[in-house]
Amino acid sequence: MPTSYTASAIETERLRLRPFESGDLDVLFSIYSRPDVMRFLYDEPRSREQAAALLERKMAGRSVERDGDTLSFAIELRSTGQVIGDCIVRLLSAAHRQGEIGFVLDPAHQGHGYATEAGREMLRVGFDELDLHRIVGRLEARNDASARVLERLGMRREAHLVENEWIKDEWQSELVYAVLDREWRTASGAADP
Ligand SMILES: CC(C)(COP(=O)(O)OP(=O)(O)OC[C@H]1O[C@@H](n2cnc3c(N)ncnc32)[C@H](O)[C@@H]1OP(=O)(O)O)[C@@H](O)C(=O)NCCC(=O)NCCS
Repeated sequence: MPTSYTASAIETERLRLRPFESGDLDVLFSIYSRPDVMRFLYDEPRSREQAAALLERKMAGRSVERDGDTLSFAIELRSTGQVIGDCIVRLLSAAHRQGEIGFVLDPAHQGHGYATEAGREMLRVGFDELDLHRIVGRLEARNDASARVLERLGMRREAHLVENEWIKDEWQSELVYAVLDREWRTASGAADP
């Protein structure tokens, strides 16, 4: 893996993925305060103060140097400039070249393939820029929309951990999806580094 990587804005067909800015608080709060968005995430719907703390973390998430560091991108619609969600790629282990991706979309913009488009780019950043060997996506087992996105991205369901976590006053189960760099390169037609 490169010793460090700093993110800048990336354009895909319909989206602009860019680092977070202080002006993003309203939109981040509007998304992360919704019970339907937070249903299968670890946290409860956020207050404005909690959204501000989250924004601080996301604004700090511009570079990856050590295990646990996360690159955070606001997902903007190129056609309007509107922020419709966010996506991440996290370095889990530099020694083992393992990473993780994730995404959250405003429900008003779900169902258009934007999470898939952003997720595809997170895999590219993980494999091409961070030189990862394997990238996972983790989700609560009832999160069908998220599972469909990971499957569309060509990730393989590798684990169903039954009632492995006590969250929001109930036992929850976790699915783990994964894809390897060589599988991703073959599927996406990307050249070997
Ligand atoms: C998970 C989440 C991001 C998925 O959003 P989504 O809008 O369903 O995903 P996509 O943007 O890829 O859209 C896919 C849907 O749009 C449709 N679609 C329309 N145009 C499309 C296109 N050009 N490309 C791909 N899909 C398209 C697909 O048919 C698909 O619908 P289906 O799943 O019913 O088959 C969203 O449900 C969410 O934010 N949930 C709350 C937060 C969360 O749980 N995040 C995941 C944590 S693990």
